[in-house]
Amino acid sequence: MPEITLALPHHSYAVTVEPGALTRLAGIVREAVPSAAGSQGRVVLVTDEGVEPHHGRTVAKALQDGGIDTVVAVIPVSEKKKTLGTVRNLYEIFLENKLERGHAVVTLGGGICCDVAGFAAASYLRGVPVVQCPTTLLAMVDASVGGKTGVNVPQGKNLIGAFHQPAAVVCDPLVLETLPERELKCGLAECIKHGVIRDPDLFAWIGASAPAILGLDQAALVELIARNVQIKADVVVADEREAGERAHLNFGHTFAHAIEATSAFGTTFKHGEAVAIGMVAAARCAEMRGLCDASVGDAIAVALEAVGLPTGSGGLASDAILLKAMAMDKKVQGGKVRLVLPTRLGEVVIVGDATADEVAAAWGAVRGA
Ligand code: GLY
Repeated sequence: MPEITLALPHHSYAVTVEPGALTRLAGIVREAVPSAAGSQGRVVLVTDEGVEPHHGRTVAKALQDGGIDTVVAVIPVSEKKKTLGTVRNLYEIFLENKLERGHAVVTLGGGICCDVAGFAAASYLRGVPVVQCPTTLLAMVDASVGGKTGVNVPQGKNLIGAFHQPAAVVCDPLVLETLPERELKCGLAECIKHGVIRDPDLFAWIGASAPAILGLDQAALVELIARNVQIKADVVVADEREAGERAHLNFGHTFAHAIEATSAFGTTFKHGEAVAIGMVAAARCAEMRGLCDASVGDAIAVALEAVGLPTGSGGLASDAILLKAMAMDKKVQGGKVRLVLPTRLGEVVIVGDATADEVAAAWGAVRGA
């Protein structure tokens, strides 16, 4: 079964992709953080309220049966509650249970859980190890790998956070069987993104494999997750702190964050759906600047439609509101919005001089589609 290693200069860790891997989580934690599994050891298993009823008890039991003292903490699963308040509640649980630096936080949930519990682990006692066990496709191929953690504030998504690389990541595709199909499709938006920025073969393979993936064929899921984690790993190893090429992973995201920030944090569009629309907007922006021809945006729209993702919406906010939201993005530099735009399938560039008119025209291309 695939194991992808992120060999960073100061820290190396493995991403396990294996159906049933969560049943042997205690062994994985023991290997990654031996002090958390020893006689004085302890972990806090942070899961979210959507995952806890399906997998919380079995995973906590797998840890306990493997000899690891385990405390369970359940957090809300909404962008509205992805806040410092939720992080503070986790600190209280860590303190009450005397979590020490040699102990560990184990996450079990979607991207919100990975980000919030990851940030709590990054900041509590100036950092305790975290083992990420993502339970959504999106979290497996993106949020759990690469060390970004954080929370939202009213001004925008993920504006407060830290880089905190996990000690290990465990992707068990069997858990996707309890994931709502809408969430699976949201994960596919990030997979299609990886194809556009780095790998035209993966892009084509996702289109051809959509029925197997949506049918939860485990072999297809293992290949999907492993290929996407490898792309993410390569990008993170090349540029851990986003000084350059890691920003390519933000393809579609500056538009997406504006959509999410102006639609009451995910009540209308889920993150993956906003990314889907954002990727089409970015491709149309590239096309208008002469960076690529229309076939790129068309191919992206066809791939998104093949897996049931939106490519536009009549429900977007006005240009002025969306542009204001984009200006709050973390990637703004010197007051200029930085956009990641495709030049062809498999290649993107970063553009720092997009004008408000160009961005408004890109919004126009996805408005009402
Ligand atoms: N989700 C984008 C990144 O990890 O850089």
